Amino acid sequence: MTMPEQTPEVQLREEFNRWAQAGRGEEMEESHLPIVEPTLALMDLQPSDRVLDMGCGSGWLSRRLAARVPNGSVVGIDVSDEMIHRAQLASTGIPNVQFLHGTAEEIPAPPDSFAKVLSVESAYYWHDPGRGLSEIFRVLQPGGSAWILINYYRDNADCHQWQAHFQTPTHLLSAAEWQELYRAAGFREVTHQRIPDRSPTPGVYTGLWFRDAAQMQRHKTEGALLVTGVKP
Ligand SMILES: C[S@@+](CC[C@H](N)C(=O)[O-])C[C@H]1O[C@@H](n2cnc3c(N)ncnc32)[C@H](O)[C@@H]1O
Repeated sequence: MTMPEQTPEVQLREEFNRWAQAGRGEEMEESHLPIVEPTLALMDLQPSDRVLDMGCGSGWLSRRLAARVPNGSVVGIDVSDEMIHRAQLASTGIPNVQFLHGTAEEIPAPPDSFAKVLSVESAYYWHDPGRGLSEIFRVLQPGGSAWILINYYRDNADCHQWQAHFQTPTHLLSAAEWQELYRAAGFREVTHQRIPDRSPTPGVYTGLWFRDAAQMQRHKTEGALLVTGVKP
């Protein structure tokens, strides 16, 4: 008997539910904050902004965003129902944040819902990044902006080895390719820049993702890729 093939959405949900159960959702706050803080500083968040955190994981960033938009609101969306469950549990009592189970490729929100969409370390997992960007375009208000921040991209050779460790299909795109996807989705004023990670690097690295501490340091110095665009 042959097993039915898993859809990309089910694959992603199961993989990131495992991450959630292992506590990795919460751990990512410490590792991603050094690239997120400088990004938040660039976003010109307004107190009444409505913001979408796409691929929100355990919701730590959604909660930080909610504090920055006290008269607005934040929606965190993730394909992993276990991540969403944990995000909801950790956010009781915060009135302006909400979490929804869903995908970037089919965002559960009406058109023109958000002033800003931020997505951290998620977009290269999306099974159809072009469709994800079209969906982000749809749910942004005219004049709204999209901010995709990723550590895994073609122009930084010190992350290419990650491919061997991913358990789901991923996209290793260049900055130029991401920009092209933005433009194809309808975005204007499309730009990209690097966000270096200035946190201290341990003298010895024994983890899975880098050969050694020197490679990790090179990757951090080169920086994460931030791609932005505006909906006309
Ligand atoms: C590496 S984690 C980053 C989580 C969070 N943004 C953070 O910085 O801690 C990637 C997240 O993207 C979510 N994700 C992956 N593909 C997705 C998709 N197509 N739609 C929605 N969420 C997705 C995963 O479930 C996971 O929670």
